[in-house]
Amino acid sequence: MASETEILFTEAARLASAFRLVEPELHRPTMQYRECLAALTEDLQEESVAADDVLRRLVEKAEPGLHHMVRPRFFGWVIGGSHPMGVAADFLTSAWGQNAGNHTASPAAASFEAVAATWLLSVLGLPERSSVGFVTGATVANFTCLAAARGEVLRQAGWNADALGLFGAPPITVLIGDDAHTTIFSALQFLGLGHDRVVRIPTDMQGRIRTGEFEKTLRNLSGPIIAVLQAGQINTGAFDAFADLIPLAQQKAAWVHVDGAFGLWARASPSAKHLCPGVELADSWATDGHKWLQTPYDSGYAIVKNETAHRRAMTITASYLPIAQEGDRDPSHYVPELSRRARGFTTWAMLKYLGRSGVVELVDRCCLAARFIAERLSLEPDIEVVNDVVLNQIICRFGAERSSSEADELTRRVIHRLQREGIIFVTGAKWRQREVLRISICNYQTDAREAELAAQTIVTAFHREREDDQA
Ligand SMILES: Cc1ncc(COP(=O)(O)O)c(C=O)c1O
Repeated sequence: MASETEILFTEAARLASAFRLVEPELHRPTMQYRECLAALTEDLQEESVAADDVLRRLVEKAEPGLHHMVRPRFFGWVIGGSHPMGVAADFLTSAWGQNAGNHTASPAAASFEAVAATWLLSVLGLPERSSVGFVTGATVANFTCLAAARGEVLRQAGWNADALGLFGAPPITVLIGDDAHTTIFSALQFLGLGHDRVVRIPTDMQGRIRTGEFEKTLRNLSGPIIAVLQAGQINTGAFDAFADLIPLAQQKAAWVHVDGAFGLWARASPSAKHLCPGVELADSWATDGHKWLQTPYDSGYAIVKNETAHRRAMTITASYLPIAQEGDRDPSHYVPELSRRARGFTTWAMLKYLGRSGVVELVDRCCLAARFIAERLSLEPDIEVVNDVVLNQIICRFGAERSSSEADELTRRVIHRLQREGIIFVTGAKWRQREVLRISICNYQTDAREAELAAQTIVTAFHREREDDQA
């Protein structure tokens, strides 16, 4: 007789496959938050409910409110596709229930992280002795790297920030591009560096830091400095000019951090690598597994060249915890948490499954799809592709022949129409004070056929909105 565990796990796998294998009619949830909440809200009952019934109700209540983020025509925000390989490894991660805090608690979790870390550094072409923290995502990766940066620049100024905090510490100057991702500002806030107490460097039309302005600002600075650069701007996909900026910052002994949540993966591909020369010269890098590597949520990497600075900022010790000897690696020494999920398993599984060539193909396929869509949209006289499509991000506007505010309105309407129709999913943003439609290609299934369908769907939605105007 199968045990309850076996029945439950088999049924969960069956339900998961059913969700992934059936093509949804609409690329959007059929119920929004308030409806989902209303359908779910009830008092907790006194008695236990049978396991299979719990699973059935879970699916019944959740599925109408699930966004089809794993599908090839989901282009919202920057969302990876949770590849079945990563999901399968994640099932096992949950079933194994490992606390990945230290190498004694889970030798397997610690060693898979150690190996996945060396593979990541190799694929991304970063200094091989860098340390890697397996965190929830780029937000916490940025936080972790900037904590290491804060500690190290203050240590060099003769201050022990890890012990004494910032009370009475020499002030740190943080240089940051005007178009940095919002989570960098959050990380600075969490670290007591303040999201507004930064020197913002003007950027160009693609969101890249202007080198001349960066140089001019640095010239007058002294004392501890952290410079935050970016690989892959959230809207344009643009890269800062690392090869110029990093040596300038290093002349002032600044710590250079690169936020490369998705863009750092350009390093993996011979045809995209030219976008970020010199990025390897930085001191730390944040990137995500749950974006371009397609691991399921959550998965990010905090990579720091100076392992000692990384460990100084993060290490947790107590008499009841094991002490790592030379050659041991305790995952908790590189992340803010002690107890946490064993994230190394999914990263290891995805890299093993794809191999180097698979990662290259994945990056190239997304870039190719983005270029195809951009070219197709550019053929339409009244659609303006606003960015230089160098990577996987496209922003565009509709109604080039109209006034700016009318084009804003039309762009909003095209986005809403596309969201209602549900053939593809896209979102909007403001770029240079104007409304844009954002398309982010970050799914392992988005091939030329899907790109063609997506481009056609956008063009048709635009024509329909315009016809409605004329009606
Ligand atoms: C450039 C950049 N940095 C940081 C983040 C935050 O990443 P996460 O949501 O994985 O924490 C994102 C998310 O899209 C991003 O694009």
